[in-house]
Amino acid sequence: MLKEPAPAEAGKTPKIRVEDLHKSFDGKVVLDGVNFSLPEGESLVVVGPSGTGKSVLLKHLIGLVRPDSGRLFVDGRDFWALSDLERTAVRKKFGMSFQEGALFDSMSVFDNVAFPLRRSGRPPSEVRERVRECLSIVHLPNVEGKRPSELSGGMRRRVGFARAIAHEPEILLFDEPNTGLDPIMTDVIDEVILEMKEKLDVTIVTITHHMESARKIGDRVALLAGGKLLYQAPPEEFLKSDDPAVRQFVEGKAEGPLTVEFERETATAAPEAS
Ligand SMILES: Nc1ncnc2c1ncn2[C@@H]1O[C@H](COP(=O)(O)OP(=O)(O)OP(=O)(O)O)[C@@H](O)[C@H]1O
Ligand SMILES: [Mg+2]
Repeated sequence: MLKEPAPAEAGKTPKIRVEDLHKSFDGKVVLDGVNFSLPEGESLVVVGPSGTGKSVLLKHLIGLVRPDSGRLFVDGRDFWALSDLERTAVRKKFGMSFQEGALFDSMSVFDNVAFPLRRSGRPPSEVRERVRECLSIVHLPNVEGKRPSELSGGMRRRVGFARAIAHEPEILLFDEPNTGLDPIMTDVIDEVILEMKEKLDVTIVTITHHMESARKIGDRVALLAGGKLLYQAPPEEFLKSDDPAVRQFVEGKAEGPLTVEFERETATAAPEAS
């Protein structure tokens, strides 16, 4: 059910291309042949049931996890065929907002956002200016001196975004940016992501469970299930798809191919009777 790129995209080097990615942990297959290609400036949203490997996939894109087999291309360059030095340079093209937040609670908001800038050796005046700029892009003025623990969940997510964009990456990865937030804050976060896409001219991959967010921020939506990206389509087409796995996810049904697979996996994982 993979769609070929539209003719207009053919011929242009995609920003990210993933080819037949496989990954297992302790014998358990998580990614079982993931393929996709993301043109520059596009926003891809990946949805899927819990535990199917969405975070693992995102960590492959930024090169934090090495695939067992398959290839990752960034701007046409085969990531794992590069030298360590070249890989470090390619990683700098990415900014990632982690599912766990990953803010330093002992540091102020300012220091959290400044962290990647200081590590790259920018002078203090430039760091100060860039931190303020990033906090204003995510609509968080006047919180520089606060600790992350003093902020609401939605504000903390946006501090994470500010830190992710601080070094001016070309590709942004968001892992469940609005999970656990109320519907209003979910919408605020979606708006901020959309604004970043427009203002910063970036390519974006977002993981989310919210179909409404996927509709809003995605140029394309894909379902990760059974270790594969089963369906990739523009949001309206995705929502109307008659693919049984997509229908089950979109409608939030307990019964369907996604659950059958889950039950099969659980049965396989159960200890064998001796
Ligand atoms: N470093 C690791 N070592 C061993 N197993 C791992 C590791 N990272 C992920 N896994 C396993 O891979 C599977 C997929 O995990 P992942 O976190 O990608 O799921 P997810 O789709 O992001 O789930 P959720 O929606 O709950 O965030 C899980 O079974 C997880 O336990
Ligand atoms: Mg996850």
